Amino acid sequence: MTKDQFTDQDRRDFLRMTVSSTALLALAASPLAAFAQPAGGAPLKIGMIGSGREGGALGSAFVKAGHQVMFSSRHPEQLKGLVDGLGPRAQAGTVDQAIAFGDVVAIVVPYTAMEEIGKEHAAALAKKALVLDVSNPIARRDGEELAKWVEQQGGAGLATAKLLPGAHIVRAFNVLNYMKLSEDAHRPDEPVGVPFAGDDQNAIAIASNLIRQIGFEPVLVGGLSMGKYLVPGPLSGVHTPAEIRQIVASLH
Ligand SMILES: NC(=O)c1ccc[n+]([C@@H]2O[C@H](COP(=O)([O-])OP(=O)(O)OC[C@H]3O[C@@H](n4cnc5c(N)ncnc54)[C@H](OP(=O)(O)O)[C@@H]3O)[C@@H](O)[C@H]2O)c1
Repeated sequence: MTKDQFTDQDRRDFLRMTVSSTALLALAASPLAAFAQPAGGAPLKIGMIGSGREGGALGSAFVKAGHQVMFSSRHPEQLKGLVDGLGPRAQAGTVDQAIAFGDVVAIVVPYTAMEEIGKEHAAALAKKALVLDVSNPIARRDGEELAKWVEQQGGAGLATAKLLPGAHIVRAFNVLNYMKLSEDAHRPDEPVGVPFAGDDQNAIAIASNLIRQIGFEPVLVGGLSMGKYLVPGPLSGVHTPAEIRQIVASLH
């Protein structure tokens, strides 16, 4: 079957499936990983809220892995260069359009925007199989008050869950610099690990697959409460999966 023969039903089935870790290992070894067809399932529709440095790089990696991506901006006309360079699987739209488009939505914005996004879009986001939370609360950028509020909620994962009630949230890619997403993908020797955290098993399985498809090794560090560690800090930078597990163990 070619990628064009995948139907919406295929995509929905893929989004519903919960992939066992054994199956995920098998998918990673699939020869399909070398081609534009995403390994291990039908191409997904992914909406990007935030298409700046990190959102642009992450969305580009999803396109290259074979997914359809709508990048969004409050000024979508400014994304023409980005989407034109990525070919027919990429398009640009407003935030509303990207949310409507995506089976999966990635939020890659300054954390100050998260409250507004929650107020306007929480109901629509709660219907998505996966909401990837890549945004980090950074006191020097987002303000001490917001950083303190996030801490009071139990950290970034639980804070995002409070702002996006009902969403199937997974925190991922928060500690990998946008430049590393292309530089260090598909390392031939040992893959670079991407620590991620979430509570919903189906969302975790989809996120895990996406991480592998763009060339990294998913390392589940725990539930959303562990999202507090997925911010700039000890886990920042490029680490092997074993190093990530060691760092996480030292944080408890
Ligand atoms: N840079 C990295 O290497 C990196 C790595 C991991 C995680 N992160 C995290 O990812 C997030 C984005 O970082 P970045 O470096 O990509 O920032 P950036 O280059 O400044 O891009 C920010 C994006 O957020 C969008 N945005 C801002 N306010 C918005 C709102 N109210 N509604 C909708 N979209 C809004 C902007 O869209 P407009 O076009 O509408 O302005 C822009 O596309 C941050 O939380 C950061 O901590 C960054």
